[in-house]
Amino acid sequence: AEVNRSIFTVPHSPGCDHYLGSGKVMDKCGVCGGDNATCRRISGVFKHSLTKVGYHKIVEIPEGATKINITEMVKSRNYLALRSRSGRSIINGNWAIDRPGKYEGGGTMFTYRRPNEIRSTAGESFLATGPTNEILDVYMIFQQPNPGVHYEYMLPSEKPVVPQQPSHRPEGR
Ligand SMILES: *[C@@H]1O[C@H](CO)[C@@H](O)[C@H](O)[C@H]1NC(C)=O
Ligand SMILES: *[C@@H]1O[C@H](CO)[C@@H](O)[C@H](O)[C@H]1NC(C)=O
Repeated sequence: AEVNRSIFTVPHSPGCDHYLGSGKVMDKCGVCGGDNATCRRISGVFKHSLTKVGYHKIVEIPEGATKINITEMVKSRNYLALRSRSGRSIINGNWAIDRPGKYEGGGTMFTYRRPNEIRSTAGESFLATGPTNEILDVYMIFQQPNPGVHYEYMLPSEKPVVPQQPSHRPEGR
């Protein structure tokens, strides 16, 4: 019998299901071939003007969050800080400024970046893949007008979004 060699002559790259040429890709919820229905993206910008020097809570990250990204929009003399709801400081707690690096907390690993190059205008950021196993609170140590902090994370959908069927056909016949 002839062996069909066509898949060896046409270059195919494997999909996320490992089948060559399936064309399947990860959706934004991390589901191979999914339709983005199993998660929702929460995002916003904290841009309140603060007046009192010190720690101010800017956003709460719920349990179960993934793809967490907290990024100061422009470099400033303010610092971001992170602590668990149970009261444990994870980054920049108790007026001590930590070095940029990796910090474990809430069941995940946070990467703390503080771009240091003089010419860089990029602000500080916390990134983590999650999922978190408890509520985490993000603070700003305020020292100068806040340029804005962008935050985003994904949460599992409470209920999978089921496409609405337009017709109401009765069950059975
Ligand atoms: C899922 O979301 C991503 C990013 O928002 C988008 O590029 C992709 O087309 C979406 N997939 C489907 C099936 O809607
Ligand atoms: C995090 O968010 C900032 C601001 O929206 C964006 O510039 C940056 O690319 C994001 N980083 C990642 C790893 O998604």
